[in-house]
Amino acid sequence: MVLLGGVCDRGRARHAAAAAGPKMQGFPARREGVIECLLCPTTKAIFCMSDRKLFVTTALPYANGNFHIGHIMEYIQADIWVRMQRMHGHEVYFVGADDAHGAPIMIAAEKAGKTPQQFVAEIAAGRKQYLDGFHIAFDNWHSTDGPENHALAQAIYRDLRANGLIVTKTIEQFFDPQKGMFLPDRFIKGECPKCGAQDQYGDSCEACGAVYAPTELKNPYSALSGATPVLKSSEHYFFKLSDPRCSAFLEAWTSEPGRLQPEVLNKIREWFVPDEEGKSRLADWDISRDAPYFGIEIPDAPGKYFYVWLDAPIGYLASLKNYFGKIGKDYDAFMADPEVEQYHFIGKDIIYFHTLFWPATLHFSGRKTPTKVFVHGFLTVNNGEKMSKSRGTGLDPLKYLQLGMNPEWLRYYLAAKLSSRNEDIDFNADDFMARVNA
Ligand code: MSP
Ligand code: ZN
Repeated sequence: MVLLGGVCDRGRARHAAAAAGPKMQGFPARREGVIECLLCPTTKAIFCMSDRKLFVTTALPYANGNFHIGHIMEYIQADIWVRMQRMHGHEVYFVGADDAHGAPIMIAAEKAGKTPQQFVAEIAAGRKQYLDGFHIAFDNWHSTDGPENHALAQAIYRDLRANGLIVTKTIEQFFDPQKGMFLPDRFIKGECPKCGAQDQYGDSCEACGAVYAPTELKNPYSALSGATPVLKSSEHYFFKLSDPRCSAFLEAWTSEPGRLQPEVLNKIREWFVPDEEGKSRLADWDISRDAPYFGIEIPDAPGKYFYVWLDAPIGYLASLKNYFGKIGKDYDAFMADPEVEQYHFIGKDIIYFHTLFWPATLHFSGRKTPTKVFVHGFLTVNNGEKMSKSRGTGLDPLKYLQLGMNPEWLRYYLAAKLSSRNEDIDFNADDFMARVNA
């Protein structure tokens, strides 16, 4: 338990430093707090208040469905860490938001007969009962469709452009002539070019595992209208990740000691090994999508929107800014403070976005980069089965609460099983009962 001895290690180091004399005067004066031990409320421990400032986030869930237990696991992990930091007396801002944009959400809204804005607002309205129910203490919950995110995404883009990192290229893609829109890969279906299986998605075959481009499918059709898609060209905007500045920065940034878990660094290292021709393996990143698209307009590019993954992480900053607006705190001053530490909790499926694209976006637009990215594995059920609603294996967190089960049981169970590694964690009812009853 953190409270053993009453004073945290960092506090002890600071006290020692403060005592060491005038050259260490930059350290804050010693302040003390008294806290009750969580395990035995009768014991009071003294702890050291420090002046660390932390900005903490969890991944922003897509606003096309309610939380599942995997989301809740991520929030519980981050929430426990945040509570620990707060107990140390640090100043912590812990925020989340809905990831509102993108073609799938636009299409789901249309199917439901709603505007995308209405659609995501309804999902957002359902969030509180889960967060309160599992005692997850975000300071703020916002949306990537909020005005702060529109302004921040456009400002960041302008800064990247001024830095020479935006290029345009004309590309050819499948277009649905009936719907009048370009089709994302997962909305194009057809026969697998390798094994001939019917009704396979535009990026990979579920029958034989082949990976291909949608243009390689035989007899392609639009999953939206059934129409045969046609190839159409359009100008796209790219973040020039192939620029030697990007690989140099990212290689240094990612390998900074303590930045990433070792297994995460191993996973992304391959991107820094130059290819056979000595060129960077980091390809330019397509950050634009054509109208109709539910997203943020690209400045000076009529009919073009930011691809959802460009504006989604900017939503972290937007949620913080929105919160600071509510409490009357200066966002720009806070983010400009080099002492502020920035932490992101994410799952292993979105490592590339958070360890390559996101730090590059921040750095090359002249902004603070994350201090650490904490990656967790996936929650599976009954010995490694992927959670799936259709197969009925998903555990509904709301049902858990409605059954009157204690949220602390799940918090405790997940805390006991989570570690600093990004391995998957299996939820098993018998194991859960045994651990909680122990
Ligand atoms: N919208 C993106 C994230 C944008 S962050 C700027 C997204 N959304 S998500 O809803 O699919 O996932 C949100 C988080 O939940 C991610 O960190 C993801 O790894 C995590 N999980 C999704 N399924 C999970 C499990 N089964 N178990 C644990 N975490 C899981 O990705
Ligand atoms: Zn196949």
